[in-house]
Amino acid sequence: MITGSRFMRSLCGVAFVFALGGVAQATEDSPQVDYMLRCQGCHVGDGSGYPGKVPDLRVSMPALLGSVEGREFLLRVPGASLSVLDNAQLARVYNWMVGEFLPGGAPTGFVPFDAAEVKRARTRPLADVNAVRIPLAAAAGIPTVY
Ligand code: HEC
Repeated sequence: MITGSRFMRSLCGVAFVFALGGVAQATEDSPQVDYMLRCQGCHVGDGSGYPGKVPDLRVSMPALLGSVEGREFLLRVPGASLSVLDNAQLARVYNWMVGEFLPGGAPTGFVPFDAAEVKRARTRPLADVNAVRIPLAAAAGIPTVY
């Protein structure tokens, strides 16, 4: 016969398993996990990249976000625009990166990226990244080489 306390214990066990399931799901479906799986291999956990190969997002993102063209450029780079992430997922990753990588977090007045903006930029992926990046970087006052 199941005693009262044993019944409660098994009920707690079931609740615990459900709770764990919820946590696992929330963790898997998050911008941080999308970043880890789709971007981090090149951009590194803290966005610092690899000198000479992959730009330091902690430097370029805050600088390039300051202009309409720069903001759009950030979305048009091949690693992002050609990613398997959908527009909403990519927007979420960018908003997460802004909060996570920019020294001091998102700048005042930062307008979050949304799926529509990502979609627009993705219709114009960059063929020659540096042709667009160098003048934008120079105008924003960051090194044009990384
Ligand atoms: C295979 C390596 C690779 C992957 C994966 C990758 N990137 Fe990149 N990313 C680069 C390189 C290299 C650059 C420099 C521009 C170029 O040559 O494409 C760059 C540039 C960028 C830039 C512009 C920064 C600057 O200073 O010019 C952003 C923003 C960016 N990537 C975001 C992402 C996001 C978001 C993801 C994941 C969805 C991602 N990247 C995946 C390699 C990668």
